[in-house]
Amino acid sequence: MAIERTLSIVKPDAVGKNVIGKIYDRFESAGLKVVAAKMKHLSRSEAEGFYAVHKERPFFNDLVQFMISGPVMIQALEGENAVLKNRDLMGATDPKKADKGTIRADFADSIDANAVHGSDSAENAAIEIAYFFAASEVYSR
Ligand code: PPS
Repeated sequence: MAIERTLSIVKPDAVGKNVIGKIYDRFESAGLKVVAAKMKHLSRSEAEGFYAVHKERPFFNDLVQFMISGPVMIQALEGENAVLKNRDLMGATDPKKADKGTIRADFADSIDANAVHGSDSAENAAIEIAYFFAASEVYSR
């Protein structure tokens, strides 16, 4: 299995609940390594740019407003099958539908405030990692 990278964001609700470490433990326990990380309070234009692919969706403004409501923790994760592994750890978008033991089932309150973001493909992961990190800020290890 090839080593992949994926972009993960601990969203403002989870940062506010002080569970960054608990979420990182899920990544590390599953064999994913944090190879880049930064805490950031996104500007509106940064959030709009990141979610540009969703700009026609009815929840776009709510999503952007939520993502700029407080600081987020942004990380690149590396490991075997990292994109899918992270999506499995996250659980379904709506925490009410997320499997028991997933990050969203355990830490998220609603589909609007759903604790974490994860890239949905290796191609998008490369774009999303480059959106937040210079190549020199990502440490393969
Ligand atoms: S996903 O995770 O991309 O497959 O899910 P998708 O349903 O396509 O949703 C895209 C992102 O929009 C968020 N989302 C919402 N935000 C606010 N309100 C509502 N109703 C809503 N529905 C979906 C969802 O969490 C995805 O954000 P990210 O950051 O990618 O997880």
